Amino acid sequence: MSDSNPQGGERWGSRIGVILAVAGSAVGLGNFLRFPGQAAQNGGGAFMLPYFISLLILGIPLCWAEWTMGRYGGTKGFNSAPGIFQTLWRNPLSKYLGSIALLIPLVIYMYYVVIEAWCLGYAFNYLTGDLMLGADSEKYSDFFGRFVGTGADGALLTGESNLILFLLITFVLNFILIYRGISKGIESFCKIAMPIMVICAVCVLARVLTLGGEKVVAGLGAMWNPNAEYLMQPKTWLAASGQIFFSLSVGFGVVINYASYLKKNDDIALSGLTASSMNEFFEVCLGGLITLPAAFIFLGAAAKEQGTFGLGFNALPNVFAVMPGGRFFGFLWFFMLFTAAITSSLSMLQPVIAFFEEGLGLKRHASATLLGLVSAMGSGFVVYFSKGMVALDTFDFWVGTMFIFILAMIQAVIYGWVFGIQKGYEELHRGANIRVPWFVQIMLKYVTPAYLLAIFIGICITQGPDYAKTLSQGGIPLLSIMFILTIWVFLLLLINIAGKRWIAEGRFDAVTHEE
Ligand code: ALA
Repeated sequence: MSDSNPQGGERWGSRIGVILAVAGSAVGLGNFLRFPGQAAQNGGGAFMLPYFISLLILGIPLCWAEWTMGRYGGTKGFNSAPGIFQTLWRNPLSKYLGSIALLIPLVIYMYYVVIEAWCLGYAFNYLTGDLMLGADSEKYSDFFGRFVGTGADGALLTGESNLILFLLITFVLNFILIYRGISKGIESFCKIAMPIMVICAVCVLARVLTLGGEKVVAGLGAMWNPNAEYLMQPKTWLAASGQIFFSLSVGFGVVINYASYLKKNDDIALSGLTASSMNEFFEVCLGGLITLPAAFIFLGAAAKEQGTFGLGFNALPNVFAVMPGGRFFGFLWFFMLFTAAITSSLSMLQPVIAFFEEGLGLKRHASATLLGLVSAMGSGFVVYFSKGMVALDTFDFWVGTMFIFILAMIQAVIYGWVFGIQKGYEELHRGANIRVPWFVQIMLKYVTPAYLLAIFIGICITQGPDYAKTLSQGGIPLLSIMFILTIWVFLLLLINIAGKRWIAEGRFDAVTHEE
């Protein structure tokens, strides 16, 4: 698997390597924090029904579509979404749609890396023992507020918290790995990190499940018993599909990029399914059994009221405080979160690095420097405007939810209606180790876009007015949106330059000619 592609670019070193890299991208904070938080707030077991429906209708089919389009684009010499979209759809405007597949990973990276640094900081504070504060929720809330600067904008620059130091370490680690490239950087790291994550998660799970009979059962019930009235609420369905996208890194612009480093006859059908299944194992079997049940054991029903971050950074430290060996398990938990997060954040950098290199002709050090500057600006924005985590939440809602739906819709349409399901079916099965039933193609063409559209309209109706009101009040939410739009315009300009270069180089002529 290690030969070079037509443009002399990079390749994955092994099949297990690419599966672990895609699974590493998928398994992240979404599995261990976002999933239990969403399930708790949306009816426990009732959330799981729309969750699995979304997995089957949206998640897995779109994963296959992304693997297919990515490998196809890669064999035509493109690794970035603007180039891949243009090879799939010879309309000059299609490359601009690819801007969304760069904007999403880039902007998500900007805040995701900050949360990653929280995890590293918490792991360190467990090592030193500074986070063993006894069973007292208020103390953990205070610690969290001080550490991540929720009290005031600019609070993290006063020296009261050393988060910026952990952020620097996290940033440097991400960039060292990304600089080393696909095989030596991302793949080698994921091959080590994924088994470490399983071991840490299984240790914490074993500890949680052996905490004490009835309470464990009640905790599991809180996570899994269905509260049927939630099924009637559109919000539950929106949350479930959003979770599937976020968790599988589908509609992120990531899988399409990773798949482009495959060879023409490498299997994608089974590899895609394996990577998605691994993600589900981490999410449902590990994330779903650790976080909320553990919090419930010690906080009772109040655990359900804790938001995503409240569960991970407040409820669980309370649990660690009272369990035997809590300091060790606290360290293990946050170290595991950090490891899970870094394999995901790497995958957010790679699509943009690939574009800078193939679109602008930059060498690795120049593309990494440019990406470092842009992403540091965004993380700086999130770190500075830390009050109430408003900037982080705004980035997360607009890019981590709305734009993902839009990109998923664009990809479903390009795959189903432009590239065509017949061609897609043949492409998916080239070198495949399994047969994917034909109805999946029908679903991708009709059901997936319709379901996505319905959910998107649902989001606009149910949450749109609230967000419009928030934005009309100006302040940090509006500033955050302006920041995102500026980054988008910047990417569109670069894509315009790249498009001219590609035409001058005759890159698309070669593609047409080949066919
Ligand atoms: N898929 C990644 C996660 O779940 C982004 O955190």
